[in-house]
Amino acid sequence: MLKILVLGSAAGGGYPQWNCNCETCRGHREKSINSTARTQSSIAVSSDGIHWLLVNASPDIGQQIRHCPQLQPGRQLRDTGITAVMLMDSQIDHTTGLLSLREHHQRLPVYCSKMVHNDLTTGFPVFNMLEHYCGVDWNEIDCSKPAFTVPGIADLEFSPLLIDSKAPPYSPHRHDPHPGDNIAITIRDLKTGRSVFYSPGLGGLQDSTRSAMQQADCLLVDGTTWTNDEMQTRGVGSKLASEMGHLAQSGSGGMIEELSACNARKILIHINNTNPILDNESAQRKQLHELGIEVAEDSMEITL
Ligand code: MLT
Ligand code: MN
Ligand code: ZN
Repeated sequence: MLKILVLGSAAGGGYPQWNCNCETCRGHREKSINSTARTQSSIAVSSDGIHWLLVNASPDIGQQIRHCPQLQPGRQLRDTGITAVMLMDSQIDHTTGLLSLREHHQRLPVYCSKMVHNDLTTGFPVFNMLEHYCGVDWNEIDCSKPAFTVPGIADLEFSPLLIDSKAPPYSPHRHDPHPGDNIAITIRDLKTGRSVFYSPGLGGLQDSTRSAMQQADCLLVDGTTWTNDEMQTRGVGSKLASEMGHLAQSGSGGMIEELSACNARKILIHINNTNPILDNESAQRKQLHELGIEVAEDSMEITL
């Protein structure tokens, strides 16, 4: 069975964000809204519940592991349930957790695209830095290949997909997009045939994206913002969601409309702290509920 653990369901900054007093962050602190705090974006997947693939390494990984006994077994003096790490992009909220894995007792197997490897050896040279600690055993994700497996992660097959999104602000090619800056992944249990499509940073859908989404049994997709200009309307920034590589949920051509074509279980993840769906009683949240779209929470367990 394919097991998915949601380790962190918020976008960069988490929820509430440390320095933010927007409506939702303040509402959470003052308890004037009913909402749940969330750490930054990451999931773990496994078929046996013992060997886990960490997909994205969040800066909150220490806290996330402490909340997941599955990831912290006690079979030997130094032990972990994390067998390997896979990265969807090189964004800070998806990669800085690698630094916290530096005590790993062997070279850390990391799966990512060539473009992500470029960023993580130049603009944010975490791979180079880790050579002075556990070291990284890099495995290239080549999106021209249909599927691959990860040693130690039994029965799961991974199909990568190039998607539209954005390289991080620190990347040497932030404004010069390349295939592989961001990928999505379909994870399939070879025994049951059941699959999940995971894409926490999805700027827009191509036909290939739609087709992958229509074939999956569960979708864990970009839930960053409700509206494209949300950072502006909440008064916290000037960037549009689309400029940051995220497709907003509402409106024509938005994520909700895209999801209406899919029969899978639908779950939004990577929720920005400005998003009104974080308020469990908001009109926007009710709308999602009526459409059968769920909102991921930390420690959520999905079994397919
Ligand atoms: C993003 O997905 O755009 C990031 O969360 C931004 C960040 O990490 O600062
Ligand atoms: Mn992010
Ligand atoms: Zn906020």
